[in-house]
Amino acid sequence: MAVLGIESSAHTFGVGIVDNGKVVANAKAMYKIGSKGMIPKEVAGTHIKNAPMVIEEAMHEAGLRFSDIEAIGYTKGPGIGYCLHVGMLSAKTLAKKLNVPIIPVNHGIGHVEIAKNRAKLKDPLALYVSGGNSQILKRYGMNYKILGETFDVGIGNMLDSLARALGLYPAWGSTVEKTALEGSYVDMPYTVKGMDFSFTGMLTHASKMRGKKSNRDICFSVQETAYAMLVEATERALLLTNSKELCVCGGVAQSKRLKEMLKGMADEHRVRFGYAEDTFNADNGAMIALVAEKMLASGLSERLSDCSIEQRYRIDGARLWKE
Ligand code: FE2
Repeated sequence: MAVLGIESSAHTFGVGIVDNGKVVANAKAMYKIGSKGMIPKEVAGTHIKNAPMVIEEAMHEAGLRFSDIEAIGYTKGPGIGYCLHVGMLSAKTLAKKLNVPIIPVNHGIGHVEIAKNRAKLKDPLALYVSGGNSQILKRYGMNYKILGETFDVGIGNMLDSLARALGLYPAWGSTVEKTALEGSYVDMPYTVKGMDFSFTGMLTHASKMRGKKSNRDICFSVQETAYAMLVEATERALLLTNSKELCVCGGVAQSKRLKEMLKGMADEHRVRFGYAEDTFNADNGAMIALVAEKMLASGLSERLSDCSIEQRYRIDGARLWKE
């Protein structure tokens, strides 16, 4: 069973193909984020231009013909409306042309499932950290439950905003991580309430330090503090749920330092810790194809005329398949 998945919730237009749980293609094209951040109409325009090429590239990588594709999945949400629309319309066009089922997928579930798949985990507690989302998740029966989450922005957006405030280029989290390498610690606000956390206070505080402390020290201190907050909340959830497995997923899971800190905590509790390769933690079509394949096997497809997008599609409101 080969299923093609389309991801377009933010700056990436990704097309992945999965065959019986195995990723056989993962093509993508990215909008380059400038100093003004993401301008939704511009991003969507780039996706429209890139869509045919990325679909072709994925088919070529998989070595398949369109007649081998049995279903099309797409990201229903959460994400940027204009961008989600491009993915949905591409998926609907393909599904109609090929006369195959179409499956709307929750983006966050895609991130968790690809981490489980790549790290060979069965039932992990998941720390999902990306631009717009920061959540601690666990599947219970037919629902994902959000055990903890950010009160304000996702950690990825906070790090990108910090990079812009400090004049770093390119203005995103990996630049913060590189800048932090030789830094020394200065105090930052630390906000954890139970299993929830907040980042905007730290962002405001750190942005005002520009010129007073070195960028190295600011980046190092924000990173250490923000990751310590995530690790504390995750540890609490791990003990509460008595989970034996932990995964980290989403764009910020590409951070070496965050994985190092989580591994240290997981080792202390003799919990198995895993994650996907960076290309699968960044937004990608393979994770959407993977979930779509599972949903298809449980008969969870959608009528073409009922397909929609949902900018605030929460993971705890998404349909799940039987395992
Ligand atoms: Fe994402």
